[in-house]
Amino acid sequence: MKTVTSIKDLKLALEKNPHAQIGFVPTMGDLHQGHLSLVKTAKSQSDFVVVSVFVNPTQFNNPQDLENYKINLDSDKELLKKNQVDLLFAPTPDVMYPEGFSTYVEENAFTQNLCGASRPGHFKGVTTIVAKLFNLIKPQKAFFGLKDYQQFLTIKKMATDLNFDVEIIPVPIVREEDGLALSSRNKRLSDHDRFRALSIYKSLLLAEQTFKKGERNLAAIKELVRQTIDDAISDTDAFIDYIEFVDADHLGAPIPNSRFLIAVAVQFSNCRLIDNRVIEP
Ligand code: PAJ
Repeated sequence: MKTVTSIKDLKLALEKNPHAQIGFVPTMGDLHQGHLSLVKTAKSQSDFVVVSVFVNPTQFNNPQDLENYKINLDSDKELLKKNQVDLLFAPTPDVMYPEGFSTYVEENAFTQNLCGASRPGHFKGVTTIVAKLFNLIKPQKAFFGLKDYQQFLTIKKMATDLNFDVEIIPVPIVREEDGLALSSRNKRLSDHDRFRALSIYKSLLLAEQTFKKGERNLAAIKELVRQTIDDAISDTDAFIDYIEFVDADHLGAPIPNSRFLIAVAVQFSNCRLIDNRVIEP
């Protein structure tokens, strides 16, 4: 695996394989099995896999969250090598945002609710960096985890609206054995909070079962989700940021007899967790 940190070296490395079908996996490092599942999917669908590791400052609406976001590039490199990644692009902020940088990409439909509402400016940072990475790497396919469902839909919309010649491929959520969705932020949870955080996935499964048993009152199911999480976190500092039921394709109001998404965000004392489940009618 070759590692490059400058745009010049990235271009040189890509020019060596002019006809390769490039599969691209953008990440912010601190890699876990969730990221590696994207890499494995990319490997199986492309002949040259590029991974980027870049902690993108413009998408952190909370400076403390950025400060806490520590990555270890050496261990990330080892994992990527083991998974036969061809090229790693690991730029520094000044490479991606040189002095005087002043152009941003903003999607304005899928980013209005859920994390878009709770994290002002977050998606503008995401679409801007991903657009830049697409322009530099020019992948045929790019892989995004459904853990960040709203991010996946937003990037897909951006690619359509701005005519990026790239297919955006969704990859299922990878979970710990006990159900907690893998996230680089999980290690910030105390043991106590981590145990309480299991209520998030439990509440999603309970909602799904309740719907499958015939309940069609979504407000009642939402209340069940809220109760399940609230009961679990009542002895912590955590609070529910949002529980939303939205149409799974456009993130608007649920459409009767169509699949919908249950999206949950819970703020624990030093990290915010998100999870979701798509419910098929
Ligand atoms: P990051 O949080 O590092 O995630 C990189 C990719 O890994 C995203 O597509 C995310 O959805 C996926 N991922 C994370 N945890 C996952 C899990 N448990 N199961 C499946 N996929 C998972 O998302 C970002 O970085 C950034 O916003 C980025 C797109 C790189 C732009 O800066």
